[in-house]
This record gives sequence, structure tokens and C-alpha cells, in this order.
Amino acid sequence: MPAPSLIQTHLSLPVDFVRAMDLDKASLDVEARYKRCAVPWKPHLERTRAVIMRSAHLAKNRRKAVLFGAGLLHDIPLAELSDLFQTVVLVDVVHSRSCHLQASLFPNVSCLQADVTGTASFLIRARKTGAPLPRLELDLFKDDESVDLTVSVNLLSQLGCAPAEFLRTSHPPGEIRAFQRHLIESHLTYLRQRSGHSALITDVAWSRRPAQPPQAPPTERREVLHQVPLPPPAEAWDWLIAPAPESDPHQDLIAHVAAYPDWKESNRILPG
Ligand SMILES: C[S@@+](CC[C@H](N)C(=O)[O-])C[C@H]1O[C@@H](n2cnc3c(N)ncnc32)[C@H](O)[C@@H]1O
Repeated sequence: MPAPSLIQTHLSLPVDFVRAMDLDKASLDVEARYKRCAVPWKPHLERTRAVIMRSAHLAKNRRKAVLFGAGLLHDIPLAELSDLFQTVVLVDVVHSRSCHLQASLFPNVSCLQADVTGTASFLIRARKTGAPLPRLELDLFKDDESVDLTVSVNLLSQLGCAPAEFLRTSHPPGEIRAFQRHLIESHLTYLRQRSGHSALITDVAWSRRPAQPPQAPPTERREVLHQVPLPPPAEAWDWLIAPAPESDPHQDLIAHVAAYPDWKESNRILPG
């Protein structure tokens, strides 16, 4: 099979993409879990907001701030960003009602519904035809010189999840895995190539540990970035994402998070 070619994509988000991939349901599920787990999630949300503000202060100019994965708004310091920047754009495939409502309180904040992988229309077609999965170079905001800050917020590990499920019956597992890796790599490259300042916050692995006794060691750990290497993080913490009995009656589920308030600078010290 010929190697897929590099394609430039822009903002195209067929509404049936969101529905076909169940992204609206996934967003409602996260919102529901947030309501049940507000207390255990608090330290993670506060640390994420702090990293976003640290990166905002590192930006040389304060025209436009773009936040990817911001559609639920739990981890976005909206009022502070709105004060600091001329405009703030909250990008996600799905924005919660609360996000729309809160955004409407600030005249310089807008919600942009977009797929940050740029794959939407290609995947719908690929599932129908079994065509090779494309290699994409995203051009979202590429010609917009006024973007002084781009932050990817707890989104990276999610990029390949819904597409993998969507393509399960039409494409072989090896091709899907390679595609998931590609989505992650191209998002990281995109952040590196932004003209303004960029930052990354992402979970890198998940582990389970017995809920009792407190502080029991993890029993299993699963990497979630498909072997894509990252440089050493500026900060790292654990996010108690699903305390027992949320996803297991006796075990807590923990996401291990890495944060890069200056993504380009962190890449300069990537080993090897
Ligand atoms: C785990 S949530 C991030 C945490 C979220 N910021 C919060 O406030 O809880 C992942 C977000 O990424 C969004 N997302 C997943 N795939 C996406 C894609 N291809 N393009 C844009 N957003 C995407 C989801 O809709 C969701 O809002």
C-alpha cells in the first residue's frame, strides 16, 4: 500500500464527525465525572491553571491566546487570561453549555469548534472506503501572526482515542496504532512551530493502585502516548482521575501528568 501523503488541512468539522465519534457523549461523561470527583480533581485543576498562567506570563506579547482542549473549562483560568490578552479563543470539538455561558461573560473570549487533528473529513471517508489513513500537517491559526500564546490543555492523550475506536472495524490494528502515534507527533510538532509562545500539559501514563491502605503502591502502569517520547517535564504530578469506586470498586485510577510551560525551550534539552 503506498505511503499516505502529507496533506494540509484547515478548519473543517462536519457535525456528523462529532456524532459519529461520540465526542459529545464523551464530553458529557467527563462533565458528569467532574461533578462526582470535584474534590479529588481540585489539586490537578489548580496546578493546570497555574501552569497556564506561568506560560501566559512568558509570552512576549499579549494579543491572542489560543487554548486547545478548553471546551469544559474546568482547568482554564478564564478571567485572568481575559485580563491579560486582547482576545482569548477556546478551541474544542465540543463546548459545554457552562463553557459557552462563562465565555459569554467576557467580550474578548470566543469559543471555536474545531478538530485539532484536522482529520475529521478524512476519517469519515476512510472508514467507508478503507483508504490509507492520512498524514496531516495542521494549518489551524497557521497564518495568524497575532497568536502570542498557544496552550494544549490535557488533550494530547485523547487525540487518538476516538479515531481508534471509530476505525476499529475498517482498518488493521497496526495501521491504527501508527496513526495514533502520528496524531500525537504532529500535535507536538505544531506546538513547536508556533510563532508565539507555546505550552503543553498532558497525561503521559495511567496507573491503578489499591484504594486501601492509603498511599498503597501502584499495581499496574500504562503509557498513553503510544511510545512518543517527551522531554523531561518542568513539572509533574498525579491526578486522581477516578477514585474507587468510580471505575473499579477497590482501586483508584491515577493519571500521571507532565507540564511544559515553555514547550519550545523544553525541546531544546530533549536527550539524544
Ligand atoms: C480530558 S478533556 C481535557 C480537560 C478539560 N480541559 C477540562 O476542563 O476538564 C479533553 C478535551 O479534549 C477535547 N478533544 C478531544 N479530541 C479533540 C480534537 N480532535 N480536537 C479538539 N478537541 C478535542 C474533548 O472534547 C475534551 O474537551
